[in-house]
Amino acid sequence: MFYEPKKGSPFKIDPFKSLVFPRPIGWISSISKNGIANLAPYSYFNSIADEPPQVMFCSNGSTAQNKYKDSLSNILSTKEFVVNFATSTTRKQMNTTSKNFKSYEDEFNFARIKKKKSKLVKAPSVKDSPVNLECKLLKTIKLKSNSKKISTMIVGEVIGIFINNKFIKNNRVDSVSMRYIARMGYSEYTTVYSKFSLKRK
Ligand SMILES: Cc1cc2nc3c(=O)[nH]c(=O)nc-3n(C[C@H](O)[C@H](O)[C@H](O)COP(=O)(O)O)c2cc1C
Repeated sequence: MFYEPKKGSPFKIDPFKSLVFPRPIGWISSISKNGIANLAPYSYFNSIADEPPQVMFCSNGSTAQNKYKDSLSNILSTKEFVVNFATSTTRKQMNTTSKNFKSYEDEFNFARIKKKKSKLVKAPSVKDSPVNLECKLLKTIKLKSNSKKISTMIVGEVIGIFINNKFIKNNRVDSVSMRYIARMGYSEYTTVYSKFSLKRK
């Protein structure tokens, strides 16, 4: 099968999001100018450089009330955010935080997620995340959009890194034991349970 997306897909549900997988989930926390915390999952997310460490995520679309999704609005006004990671244990809470809450509603409360004070930014961190990446906004990039949807890439510099000591063994990160979850397509997810090594040539 071959198709050109601009001519439409031969499937009932466009499979594009099921073809690039697994996609890591950045569970993005931010805070509004008025001090309302926000938390939402973004799977158009990744780390993109390491000197200095940088991450990106993409906000596609708007909310019923606002031009931008709350995470993007908050980050544009406060210039900071935290990347947290959902695990097998917090997967249902992660899903709850994807609901279209009002901007004055704090997803941490609705999904019963414990906050932790971040060290370098005002946005709170997710306490039960094995890792928290505290970020400063570097730039936003407007992406091409065929529809009225606004697509924006948010690029941040990671200025503070928390790793729960439980996941540090022999001076290395024990990634598998963190049980990160990642997004496949449709409503499917995967959990990282195994790994193998390949020495780089
Ligand atoms: C696993 C998962 C991944 C998601 N990834 C994205 C994404 O990459 N970009 C996006 O715009 N929305 C994504 N969403 C939807 C947002 O989480 C949802 O629109 C949320 O309400 C946005 O919250 P906010 O307005 O507080 O930022 C995803 C939802 C789920 C469940």
